[in-house]
Amino acid sequence: MNLNLKIATTRALRSGLRIITRATISMQLILIASCLMLTSDLARAEEAALDIALPDQNQHLALVDLLRHPAVRTITIPFDVSYKQSMHYRALPLRAILRDLHTFKTIQFKAKDGFVATMPTQLLHGTAVPWLALEPPNARWPALKPGGDSAGPFYLVWIGAENGAIKPEQWPYQIKSISAVQPLEQRYPQIVPDANLTTESAEYRGMQNYIQQCASCHQINHGGDANIGPDLNLPLNPTEYFQADYLRQYIRDPASVRAWPQMRMPKFPPSVLDDTQLNELLIYLHHMRTRKITTVGTPTKTVSKDAKAMTKDGEK
Ligand code: HEC
Repeated sequence: MNLNLKIATTRALRSGLRIITRATISMQLILIASCLMLTSDLARAEEAALDIALPDQNQHLALVDLLRHPAVRTITIPFDVSYKQSMHYRALPLRAILRDLHTFKTIQFKAKDGFVATMPTQLLHGTAVPWLALEPPNARWPALKPGGDSAGPFYLVWIGAENGAIKPEQWPYQIKSISAVQPLEQRYPQIVPDANLTTESAEYRGMQNYIQQCASCHQINHGGDANIGPDLNLPLNPTEYFQADYLRQYIRDPASVRAWPQMRMPKFPPSVLDDTQLNELLIYLHHMRTRKITTVGTPTKTVSKDAKAMTKDGEK
């Protein structure tokens, strides 16, 4: 009897202790977890950085340091392309942080989601002035889509965009890096029309429109830096499976042809891509049907001939 009682008491005591120990452990776990969460939030804010790779400038610039740059101002963008409303930002004139812009022709902005805006460097010296908007960790911007991320931490905005020829595709957000690159058509000769066509041809001008407006998301013949949308030549070219009028309608307003919540392709109204440019673009797309590459990375003979010609041009 006595012994049994003793055993029972010890058991009760032990399990009580176990409960207490468990409780302490889980309290500790909660504490540790919340500390970790706090530090990871802080770490994220501290980590936010921009990589710059220019001929004479290789930098990893932390958001916190950029926010302290003496050239930072509060600017107002009357009609923000991404937020579709007036916005205020803490921002730096892009030219204040990029050196020797005159030494290269093409500049590229890579975003977190695979979007890549490639533009002529001379655009940065036009009437519209580019600013790098910086998202302060303690005053975050709104989400672009309900439940999604903001345009930060780095977003390229333009003052006076109405005067210059700045397209919506030239407002990259969630920027990760800025680098000097060779023009897209030199790096990916498989997107270039037949070498017998002049640079004044509709096909060639169509390629220029494609580079300016579409290559930020699409590739042609597996050529391009972005990968948000499908390749527009392989395996099939949309001019092969879209009725011409519907393809035109799709580019003008994708949701009027097919619509679903996750769709990404923006509208291209005449203010962004006029009728002549759209015609050239469609002529270019149609032409590229005849220039499909057969194997990834191995362009057909005609394409590699162009490739040589292009590299030579690029070296001049
Ligand atoms: C911001 C990224 C983006 C840009 C810029 C963009 N597209 Fe798209 N495009 C997409 C995505 C993503 C899809 C797949 C459907 C979707 O999610 O909207 C798509 C789908 C398409 C399709 C339909 C393909 C199919 O088989 O359904 C065509 C055609 C097309 N794009 C052409 C163009 C052309 C031409 C341009 C330039 C004028 C362009 N896109 C610019 C992202 C983009």
